[in-house]
Amino acid sequence: MTFRNLCSARYSCRAYDNKPVETEKLAYVQECVRLAPSAVNRQPWHFITVTDPAQLQAVKDAYHRDWIQGVPAIIVCCKNEEMAWTRRYDSHNHADIDLAIAIEHLCLAATEMGLGTCWVCNFDINQLRSTFSLPTGFEPCALIPIGYPADEKPAEKVRKDISEIWENR
Ligand SMILES: Cc1cc2nc3c(=O)[nH]c(=O)nc-3n(C[C@H](O)[C@H](O)[C@H](O)COP(=O)(O)O)c2cc1C
Repeated sequence: MTFRNLCSARYSCRAYDNKPVETEKLAYVQECVRLAPSAVNRQPWHFITVTDPAQLQAVKDAYHRDWIQGVPAIIVCCKNEEMAWTRRYDSHNHADIDLAIAIEHLCLAATEMGLGTCWVCNFDINQLRSTFSLPTGFEPCALIPIGYPADEKPAEKVRKDISEIWENR
């Protein structure tokens, strides 16, 4: 698959088969995440693959949408701002940017493996924190369900035209 085709093949999957994901496929995805770049190479992230039924339910309960209930695994993606690089000119912390790059590596690698994913940020962070044990110093930023799709990729991607988002000077 070309990179262009991979970008086109990834979509937000919101219906999953309950078939578990093979360990080898998860290991491939993990390696692609590990290779992601980050500011000053700080790698200010931590990922938790959740498949244990009780823990998985706690994560699902923090996202109030029915479709999440059928997901076989969720990767809880966390940042650590203390670990991340901060630009001294404006004190901008780069943990979010770093983590986003790594998460998109995750989603694209999963797509290559024939797996579905969906970025989920609209979860109840306080509920997750109260029911799910997180490592000290890390903040959950996104939940990424991962598994075999039980839906079809949308026929077309709705996107702005390049002329609207890009200029040449
Ligand atoms: C940072 C971020 C947060 C998102 N949060 C959610 C979410 O909470 N729930 C959801 O169903 N989709 C969420 N999405 C998915 C977007 O709606 C989706 O990527 C966008 O509509 C484009 O569709 P596509 O991913 O199928 O190409 C999120 C995407 C991003 C990048």
